Amino acid sequence: MLSTTFSLLAVLVTVSKAALTKRMACPDGNLVSNLACCALFPVLEDIQTNMFADDDCSEAAHATLRVAFHDAIGWSLTQPSFGTGADGSIFIFAEQELSYDANLHIADAFNLEAPFIANHSIGVADFIQFAAAVGLTKCPGVLRPPFLLGRVDATAPAPDGTVPEPFQNVTTILARMADAGFSPAELVALLASHSIGGVHTAPNSPGLPFDSTPSTFDTQFYLETLLTGTLGTVGNGAVETAIAGTLRLQSDSLLARDLRTSCLWQANVNNQALMATSFQAAFAKMQVVGQNILNMVDCSDVIPEPPVLSTTAAQAFYPPGLSRSNIQQSCLLPFPILLPTKPGAPETVPPIAQDPATDGPCQDDGSDCVASFTKST
Ligand code: HEM
Repeated sequence: MLSTTFSLLAVLVTVSKAALTKRMACPDGNLVSNLACCALFPVLEDIQTNMFADDDCSEAAHATLRVAFHDAIGWSLTQPSFGTGADGSIFIFAEQELSYDANLHIADAFNLEAPFIANHSIGVADFIQFAAAVGLTKCPGVLRPPFLLGRVDATAPAPDGTVPEPFQNVTTILARMADAGFSPAELVALLASHSIGGVHTAPNSPGLPFDSTPSTFDTQFYLETLLTGTLGTVGNGAVETAIAGTLRLQSDSLLARDLRTSCLWQANVNNQALMATSFQAAFAKMQVVGQNILNMVDCSDVIPEPPVLSTTAAQAFYPPGLSRSNIQQSCLLPFPILLPTKPGAPETVPPIAQDPATDGPCQDDGSDCVASFTKST
């Protein structure tokens, strides 16, 4: 099995080669660098029209991204029993895996995605990662994710305990990520995901956002998690937040302040280019965890271009009423000092509306999470 580090390098090399490769026409007229990628266009059209319809980086994009991580992280460099990575096991064995505490509310993603997986012939693992990549392209600020096709679907579930939990300490989280092949820098990069989305406090409920801009892939998340928390729900993996309407995970709060990760975290504040490029690389690596990329085909050219985030929108700011004096800085490197404060009175961030398609038979304890999928072999 290839190491994940090698996989990442190979993915990036493959992607850059693809840009120079001659393109061929699919029967439907779309141009691709490999005809195997033509199979993705009907899937793309279906999910663009029906799954992400009217989704401006909202619930469908958030849910498809989270499940892509929870599927991929079922993998270990040392424990073969931890699963085979980005292998679709989270849906193929949903009745088991969705009963794990860490997978609470992944049922939303199952209800959303299962009908589409059943209607198309690509494998479950490929669908999960493809939907996440396409969902990301709804989010202003994301760089177009690469996509490789050809994952081998799981033959067994991942066990409980592979997905980090919000109440765990930094040592435990970093150890789990390292065991899956990810460095602290890659974890901090991947957590840009929490710049979009939030927590669902009840089944099929609206989400409490992690930051004040949950539909923009911007650096506000890294800034706002560093503000002194004074408000909101505490317990069960949540700590006080600084902005009404948002929820801060204990794990994000600790990682932002721990000396092993605080400078990596702080470096993203008001640095959109760093956030976007480091996430793009770490996400490409995450998408192929446990898979042999030599057997996969580069279909990056099928992924649409995400909307551009303007320079003005990429400017980080302190929420109304807050300033540099509210930052709890652990990293000894200089903090960006010239950030503006958004004018006006303190705001309450509205909840993230629930996508009705996330409601369905699959329950949060894993019951009734069954569907007939065509699996790849
Ligand atoms: C230390 C590692 C991590 C922990 C402890 C963690 C924990 C959580 C928790 C507790 C939620 C709320 C789920 C809910 O109850 O609705 C959440 C949401 C989310 N997570 Fe993570 N996460 C981690 C890393 C990641 C990574 C690496 C990704 C993607 C690459 C990711 C993507 C997301 C997304 C997109 C959401 C929002 C889902 C939605 O709004 O529907 N997370 N995470």
